[in-house]
Amino acid sequence: MSTQINGQTCLCGVVGDPIAHTLSPFIHNALAEAMNVNTVYVPLHVTEEHLEEAIVGAHGMHMRGMNVTVPHKQQVMQYLSEIHEGANAIGAVNTLVRRPDGYHGYNTDWMGLERALKDHEISLCGKTVVLLGAGGAAHAAAYLCGRQAAEKVLILNRTPQKAIQLAEKMHGLFPGTEYCGAQIDHWKQLAGDGYICIQTTSQGMVPNEDQAVIEEQAFYHKISAAVDIVYNPGMTKFMKLGKAAGAMVCNGLLMLLYQAVSAFELMHEVTVPKEAIQKIKKELEEQFAYGA
Ligand code: ATR
Repeated sequence: MSTQINGQTCLCGVVGDPIAHTLSPFIHNALAEAMNVNTVYVPLHVTEEHLEEAIVGAHGMHMRGMNVTVPHKQQVMQYLSEIHEGANAIGAVNTLVRRPDGYHGYNTDWMGLERALKDHEISLCGKTVVLLGAGGAAHAAAYLCGRQAAEKVLILNRTPQKAIQLAEKMHGLFPGTEYCGAQIDHWKQLAGDGYICIQTTSQGMVPNEDQAVIEEQAFYHKISAAVDIVYNPGMTKFMKLGKAAGAMVCNGLLMLLYQAVSAFELMHEVTVPKEAIQKIKKELEEQFAYGA
């Protein structure tokens, strides 16, 4: 939050149901303070039947920007005046930016993952990527794989039909990347090693810390990087298994932070410097007691 609320303060917020556990107000208000932007960001509990009036009302009240979270990321799209290319491809919007004609919708989840991977010096270009899961986060990751011109993306999901559908959709958008959907056990048919694995399911998140989608150690010997979108705990079972097999590992905290940074940048037309991002990252790590 900027230090002083006054007549010029612009209002932003995050719309969801439930919303009480969101970290977005913490991150956005910390960014506002670091960047000296005169804005306040609040949680907004909006149920499905009130979504349309919430969006129309927010526009009427000149709310500068909003994030949208579960369960509204798809539903909200019908109330926007324009949808950015990436959000259309992913089929979900998590960021709204106010324009005179209505809200423009973006998806910053793929941007967050891209920036997090960059910090870890991971490029997907020309690589074979194994995606675990086929839900919302997997859509963002699969889109990023296409954008970065991965050679092949193997999408493995408990419900294989969803993985196959996602693979077909993404291959239509990125014909240069080979997408393949299958059931989880399909990893056993992977020849060679050095794959990048991105874990997009909620498996391993508190209170299910002792679980991972793939538990066989043999899988982890095939991968060079184990990227988890889960950030609590900081070291998930998936990451532990990857680490034990010698893979580079990272959790989802940076992706979470960067999707918010990208949203903040779109809402306020600024570029957040690295130092501000590092400071907030440290504060988040303290909140989750990573060092303990
Ligand atoms: P999100 O938007 O966070 O990705 P989602 O759209 O509900 O959430 O997707 C959750 C993903 O995690 C799905 O791929 C789901 O598999 P199904 O499509 O089979 O439901 C996966 N998932 C959730 N719990 C799982 C579990 N216990 N084992 C394996 N996969 C699981």
